[in-house]
Amino acid sequence: MVRTLDSIESIGVVGAGTMGSGIAQVAARHGYDVVMRDVEEEFVQRGFDSIEDSLDRFVSKDELTEDEAEETVERITGTTDLADLADCDVVVEAAVEDMDIKRDIFADLDEAVPDDVVLATNTSTLSITTIAAATEREDRVVGLHFMNPVPVMKGVEVVVGEKTDEDVVEFAHALAEDLGKETWESDDKPGFVTNRILMPWINEGIRAYDEGVASKEDIDKGMKLGTNVPMGPLELADHIGLDICLDASETLHEELGDRYKPAYLLKRKVDAGDLGKKTGEGFYEH
Ligand code: 3HC
Repeated sequence: MVRTLDSIESIGVVGAGTMGSGIAQVAARHGYDVVMRDVEEEFVQRGFDSIEDSLDRFVSKDELTEDEAEETVERITGTTDLADLADCDVVVEAAVEDMDIKRDIFADLDEAVPDDVVLATNTSTLSITTIAAATEREDRVVGLHFMNPVPVMKGVEVVVGEKTDEDVVEFAHALAEDLGKETWESDDKPGFVTNRILMPWINEGIRAYDEGVASKEDIDKGMKLGTNVPMGPLELADHIGLDICLDASETLHEELGDRYKPAYLLKRKVDAGDLGKKTGEGFYEH
């Protein structure tokens, strides 16, 4: 049995860093009571500070009233005790990208919250299946991968573990949509859709800079104006956090090896004369 979205009133968030506090903010902004937990009081406070900064930006643009911002913060309870998540109807974990730490958290959550509560992880590259295996509810563990900055970015990636129940996948989509997001789905393969593709792009930008292809400004400008993305690879790496990029890249490297050769399918399509829009056939039909 999985809880349906209309029975969900409170959301537990594990981790009050950039992603955790962003998720807590968005959940509270959409009317949920939130319990936001981190290991130290200081980290919890930093989470609240960043939520207040972000809400202030919406207030200054008249997208939110001061009262609404205040009510949003009031719906969030901070804690350092995982047991305080016991009454939450769903939990989203956004702690550090370390498999051992995540498995410990999931094992503890499995003890702390009722059996029918879905446990979601915001992991960016780690296996949902391996995290789920630390619990007795592998079918109720799912990936809910938010994008940074969470209050602004529209997309959430739903990641389906080996044992994730179909109802839990549906629930994950519905929950993200209820938080004002749009979703897409990925199988539990390293990096899922987004980071599998994004991290090599960022690394290539970094290598191009290191090898003197262009200045860092021109690499970012070239990719921004040349491919119409909001940030170039070096700017985006800074925005995400270089440590997070390194962790994600190391996981991808370990799991997938050398991904930087031209894709076999790309060569095959070119050999076949399927060059994209100009020939009417590429990866899509035009
Ligand atoms: N809270 C509230 N509002 C925020 C905000 C926050 N944390 N961060 C930015 N904003 C708002 C600003 O107030 C501004 O609003 P306005 O345009 O209405 O005035 C708007 O967003 C744009 O911000 P800025 O003017 O400061 O700067 P930019 O125009 O460069 O936008 C950005 C910032 C929204 C971050 C934009 O550059 C962007 O979309 N960059 C790409 C981000 C991205 O790709 N994220 C995904 C990374 S991958 C990931 O997260 C996966 C992980 O696993 C690694």
